[in-house]
Amino acid sequence: MLQGGATGLPLWQCSTSAMPLVHEGQTPRLYLRFMLPTGVKLGEWFEVGVGCRNEFGLWKRADFPCEGDSFPLVMTALRVSGPAGSSISVETEGSLLMDASGKLAFRARLLTGSGMEGRAEKSDSSWVALLRVEVAAGTQGVLRPLMPVLSPPMRVVQESAEQPPEALLLGLGSLSLEQCRLLEVPVVGLPILLAECPGDLGIGGRVWDGGLVLLEYLAEHRSELLGRRCLELGSGTGLVGMGCALLGARQVLLTDLEDVTPLLRLNLELNQEFNPFLAVASSSAPGESAALPAALQSLDGVEVLPHRWGTDISSLDFGSTDLVVMADVVYDIEAAEALIATLQSLASVERQTEAKYLMAFRPRNVEDPAFFKALEAANFELHERPRLSTPMAKMCTDVIVLELIPRRA
Ligand SMILES: C[S@@+](CC[C@H](N)C(=O)[O-])C[C@H]1O[C@@H](n2cnc3c(N)ncnc32)[C@H](O)[C@@H]1O
Repeated sequence: MLQGGATGLPLWQCSTSAMPLVHEGQTPRLYLRFMLPTGVKLGEWFEVGVGCRNEFGLWKRADFPCEGDSFPLVMTALRVSGPAGSSISVETEGSLLMDASGKLAFRARLLTGSGMEGRAEKSDSSWVALLRVEVAAGTQGVLRPLMPVLSPPMRVVQESAEQPPEALLLGLGSLSLEQCRLLEVPVVGLPILLAECPGDLGIGGRVWDGGLVLLEYLAEHRSELLGRRCLELGSGTGLVGMGCALLGARQVLLTDLEDVTPLLRLNLELNQEFNPFLAVASSSAPGESAALPAALQSLDGVEVLPHRWGTDISSLDFGSTDLVVMADVVYDIEAAEALIATLQSLASVERQTEAKYLMAFRPRNVEDPAFFKALEAANFELHERPRLSTPMAKMCTDVIVLELIPRRA
């Protein structure tokens, strides 16, 4: 069991365990410093700004994740759809060497190769592509993996096209989608595409390390969710809940505050329409898989509903819940009290008394132990699940997985 310093107490009971906002247990990530165009013409140059930060959106030079003064990045294009037999590639101009400032800017443009000599593309041809920026393969001295960043899906049209490229993602509403992540669900190896919009949604608008650790834990304990019905509280981008679905859960309900649910719906749509590893466009290029992984079908069982903790749970009753999952939901003591009220209500619903409750927790605030004391006072026993030696668990050494067991009369 991970203990809080010299106190000998478990991490979740230790009031001295508050962590600095930037520390080396956090995943370093690439992010897009400004929005990329949602549509471009082939050959048209556009500006790209990339930076480094942690899950909190902060960057400290001392957390540089490589040995040496700089390391090379590379930008590639992932084709989602386009005319049969054609490919999309990206050309960059300017330095892609990232230094300790954690920021760089360069230019890029998209090019196509038909691969079919003598057959020109029609002027109304268009493609959908995602641009990915990551540390160049073979880079020496990488101390900690840096999470790649992807553009939102981008429409690419012929240079000769008369109309500007149509916007994608019509369901976006008022959200301004900043970037995407392509995160692999461990064990099954299926990547989930997640849009992030921290500028618009703040905390709910990005992937948190707790979610990465919990998903890894669930993948290693698949039997706890295979064929089960899962409810996620405080889903954020939906990583854990959608991951549960791809790991074999029968039905998944993603919940969060009302203003976060458009992002959850968008992320569901992104995976159904634009995930190059899951979606199969009828116009697949040769060599691209035309076989839909069977697991994708299980995203059909994913639903999104608003739920503010502490409010009526009757809308969450989608049959009996087998597993309630929560990642990084304890960070604000007032909201946490409301979370306890939701957990108590769920545990008191007769059909859900056998449900399991799993929570990933990272200590941040001196009030955290008060939350767990209140949870125990609300008749939940707390058990820390054994730590795994999987990649995220090894990197995020201060994130633990707790099982909350309702005391049943
Ligand atoms: C730190 S984020 C974690 C998101 C996601 N679980 C993850 O691990 O990436 C906390 C989430 O809890 C949600 N949340 C905060 N207060 C809430 C409340 N009162 N009711 C419902 N959700 C809430 C936030 O909107 C946010 O999505």
